[in-house]
Amino acid sequence: MRFLHLGDIVGKPARDLIRKRIADIRKELDLEFVTANAENAAAGSGINQAIFNELRNAGIDCLTMGDHTFKRKEAISVLEKESRIVRPANYPNEAPGKGVCVFEIGMGARCAVLNLQGRVFMQPIDCPFHAADRLLRQLPKDVKVIFVDFHAEATSDKQIMGRYLDGRVTAVLGTHTHVATADEQIFPGGTAFQCDVGMCGSMKSIIGRKIECVTETTLTARPTSYEVADQEIALHGTIVEFNPLTGKALSIERWTCRE
Ligand SMILES: [Fe+2]
Ligand SMILES: [Fe+2]
Repeated sequence: MRFLHLGDIVGKPARDLIRKRIADIRKELDLEFVTANAENAAAGSGINQAIFNELRNAGIDCLTMGDHTFKRKEAISVLEKESRIVRPANYPNEAPGKGVCVFEIGMGARCAVLNLQGRVFMQPIDCPFHAADRLLRQLPKDVKVIFVDFHAEATSDKQIMGRYLDGRVTAVLGTHTHVATADEQIFPGGTAFQCDVGMCGSMKSIIGRKIECVTETTLTARPTSYEVADQEIALHGTIVEFNPLTGKALSIERWTCRE
């Protein structure tokens, strides 16, 4: 079996391409399930109910989030109501939503999707490593296929998480930097790993936003609106092949689709 995880979806241009292509891609690549990071799905920041519905209807089985989770207050009701969306598990207990989602895949197997967030150059939230231990302890024993979206800034931090969870989960794939890394590999314990799967958004941009807006703010320190870029849209993600009985990863491959 295989699954695809798509990197941070940046705004409407990326959502439009996902809506157009994902059903065919699922068939072409024989994907058992598809997950995507949606922290930037609503105009580049956050999520709301309509966009959650749009991405689910397009064929995404479960959405993960990150540091932009609560940028829109509409996200709170989505996280409280919907089961197929996770926010970083190492947020405080009082935060709306949950850090893990379990759902059925083929052959009677179930899979768990976990979301964690790094602390290096990011908000000083709870420890993601201890949060991972806690969630893995709580998962039902029959859940063998476990995918972790580690939303973090530093590649070293992501490598530590991958090595720490090697043999305990099917895959640790990074998001947040919006730039795919060329380090995909299977660790000795059978965990697929990649520092970052990249972004779904404009290749003519600064990580999905219009070049001129970001450049102006960088050069002048004047705030701008950081509009979502809408040209040369590409989807970036990673495909992991796994054994549904053992949860071990068999192969990992970077994947790209241009409009
Ligand atoms: Fe992002
Ligand atoms: Fe992020």
